[in-house]
Amino acid sequence: MVTEPSSRAQVLVASNRGPVSYSVRDDGTTVPKRGGGGLVSGLSAIGPDADAIWVCAALGDGDREAVRRTGGLLDPADTGGQRVRMLGIAPEVYEDAYNGIANSTLWFVHHLLYQTPLEPAFGPEFRARWASYETYNHAFAQALADEAAEGAAVLVQDYHLALVPGMLRALRPDLRIGHFSHTPWAPVDYYRLLPDDIGRRLLRGILGADRAAFLTRRWADAFTACCTELLGGTGNTGIGVHGLGTDAGFLRERAHRPDVDERIVTLREQIGRSPGPGSAAGGPGEPRKTIVRVDRTELSKNIVRGLLSYRQLLVDHPEWRERVVHVAFAYPSRQDLAVYRDYTAEVGRVADEINTEFGTEDWSPVVLHVRDDFARSLAAYRLADVALVNPIRDGMNLVAKEIPVISERGCALVLSREAGAYEEMGEDALPVNPYDITATAKALHEALTMPPAERAERAERLTAAATALPPQQWFLDQLTALRAI
Ligand code: G6P
Repeated sequence: MVTEPSSRAQVLVASNRGPVSYSVRDDGTTVPKRGGGGLVSGLSAIGPDADAIWVCAALGDGDREAVRRTGGLLDPADTGGQRVRMLGIAPEVYEDAYNGIANSTLWFVHHLLYQTPLEPAFGPEFRARWASYETYNHAFAQALADEAAEGAAVLVQDYHLALVPGMLRALRPDLRIGHFSHTPWAPVDYYRLLPDDIGRRLLRGILGADRAAFLTRRWADAFTACCTELLGGTGNTGIGVHGLGTDAGFLRERAHRPDVDERIVTLREQIGRSPGPGSAAGGPGEPRKTIVRVDRTELSKNIVRGLLSYRQLLVDHPEWRERVVHVAFAYPSRQDLAVYRDYTAEVGRVADEINTEFGTEDWSPVVLHVRDDFARSLAAYRLADVALVNPIRDGMNLVAKEIPVISERGCALVLSREAGAYEEMGEDALPVNPYDITATAKALHEALTMPPAERAERAERLTAAATALPPQQWFLDQLTALRAI
């Protein structure tokens, strides 16, 4: 489908996951659900009159049904007015590209997730999937080429679409193309796990852009190092850094709506109170302290070592027993992959084990919730004394930025030095090596015992760092930089 020149867009965003997804009801009709995230609020910065379009993939059956019904250009009523073109890529091609290459290979490389004695093993199966990844990237490049006005700006997102800039450049040399990585970038030696030709093709794909941008200087430098080592340099592509921050205004308003207040009441009951100081029977005392984490159940988030560190805290500092609760929300993610299902089960198992080992009649040491509920996440943010953000490796980690903004008592932040957020927030956080359970337990103890005045001061500086570049400005900065080339 080639769009009439008059309706072609001046600004185009391309990402695997779009701003809306559809589920199918029993009667066959589809129900749209709008998503959130940095890109959704970022794009809103240019306003509804700007000639913009978002190109994304149909992820599941509901999306495919919506594409079949509409021809791909979604009903604006479903998207909040945003022009969205959803691509109905053949399910088997999509599966290989998204699960086979993007999530099982590229995500693993950039987050250092392989257990290398046995994996990865790149044989013919990998090559077949790679062909699908190329087909999927080509479908995006073609759609963008069809939709873009002369000289338009195209902002391509993430590792799913690493080949798009190069492919699009070949189809439409007139466009300004930017690529943005929301993930870390692998160090050279680890990147070289990829077959040589594939490693080079991915880099060349991104270098097809006028600008390749990253969340932190560290990831940008890692990318540049890979280009230097494998290709001899980055050519004419500019390298940028835009550290996505959080939208304080939106968060604060949203966190004080009635649905969040309701969830606070329930959470407070689950957390409970410490035994009273004077009573042997343990009458109610202060509300228990909380260590809060909210994540997708994602291998790189390091939830299991977080639980083990909390367990170690209860061993090393028995004085915390019955006085603290680990509020851990771990929401389902990528459950099509067996390794994610196993990991999800392990999170539940370790949480149960801690509750069995230490729990008492009225104290559950771990309160684990696995059903996604944004209002409940905000309720937990408000109640946080300590935020635990300990990823193995993470592009940014917006939870680290959101909790200090919302927490009512000014939380202390235990933060992995491998999270992108560490670059801006490390100084006022308690930094941890994500693999070191003993050190993380110690940091949790320090966080829990940090004097209130110090905690409040640090939280204020953390909040300033977290909100320095809100999504709308983050998006506009990229657009401005691209147009200036
Ligand atoms: C990361 C990636 C995004 C991705 C998100 C959720 O933040 O950078 O591109 O959309 O994870 O993962 P999912 O596979 O569910 O889209």
